[in-house]
Amino acid sequence: MKKIGLIWGDGSSPEIMAQAKRVLDAIQDPVDPFVYTDIAMGGEAVDKYGDPLPQHELDKALAQDSVLLGAIGGPKWEGLPGPQRPEKGLLRLREGMELFANDRPAKIWPQLADASPLKKEITDKGIDFVIVRELIGGAYFGKKETKEVNGELVAVDEMPYSEHEIERIGRIGFETARKRRKKLVMVDKHNVLDTSRLWVKVFDRLKEEYPDVEYSTMFVDNAAMQIVKDPSQFDVIVTENLFGDILSDEASQITGSIGMIPSSSRGKTKNGLYEPIHGSAPDIAGQDKVNPIACILSAALMLRYGLDMEEEAARIEQAVEKVLDQGYRTADIWTEGTTLVGTKEMGDRILENL
Ligand code: IPM
Ligand code: MN
Repeated sequence: MKKIGLIWGDGSSPEIMAQAKRVLDAIQDPVDPFVYTDIAMGGEAVDKYGDPLPQHELDKALAQDSVLLGAIGGPKWEGLPGPQRPEKGLLRLREGMELFANDRPAKIWPQLADASPLKKEITDKGIDFVIVRELIGGAYFGKKETKEVNGELVAVDEMPYSEHEIERIGRIGFETARKRRKKLVMVDKHNVLDTSRLWVKVFDRLKEEYPDVEYSTMFVDNAAMQIVKDPSQFDVIVTENLFGDILSDEASQITGSIGMIPSSSRGKTKNGLYEPIHGSAPDIAGQDKVNPIACILSAALMLRYGLDMEEEAARIEQAVEKVLDQGYRTADIWTEGTTLVGTKEMGDRILENL
């Protein structure tokens, strides 16, 4: 029995989740079908329970083999104080499931190369790298405080990292590089930050165990520049939480198709979280416009990494390739000469090709 948690999410997220679920239903083993459990997190949970991730919903997530998420948040919850915002639910879920490693691939689809904002001479060299982002440490989870000092407010966000936290994400970085083109860049700011200097120290130790991987470091400001200047130089980037948040948005944008990129977050146990990297697109909610592909590809990653169903994962990915080859496009990736389809029809086309 394979237990899958479904977080339907906010805005246009339920529309993409519906298509991902159709694909999962179609691909499951009829003798041993998936057992689904709906989990409320984000804006939906704020509305239902006044809390973006109540303990009972976290407990449900912890009881699954894997969890699939669409996207959360939206203007409706914008005014709420920090701890009640939908985003806090996602952070608590990451922490509760101990998902310390987040893989965010940046890969250009040849069928969609025209959609990249970069010049053709740059995209022609290829874009195929992955950002391995540390997900439950650093400034996101450090001590936070806003207090009055000498008649004005002072806010502090601490950014702690301990050796074991750096080492476990470092290993994922090296292992990921080992399975790819064997090039790892650790992105930091060790000319300024103590945490970065500790990252360097731990990585210098680790690299001895991975002599087959070409290892280097790069300052985060330079990395932001290099990602648009020559993205072909990167294979695997490993970095701390906040740098990874910023760089992965930049990296997704240069592929020209943020609606196509899935991600996986994994931790100590097999129970991972799989989600598109895009947001909940509340502006087009309910219009059958949003691109379901990133969510469907996230379901494929879930099958591959979380549920040991490599063959089924590959079948979904091939179906998506075929649909793109056939020229079907949702509005976000539509170009002259291709066929515009809505969310549901994109799901239909993928199902036809499974
Ligand atoms: C992401 C998002 C989250 C983050 C927000 C929603 C808290 O931007 O998954 O990248 O900053 O990690
Ligand atoms: Mn982000």
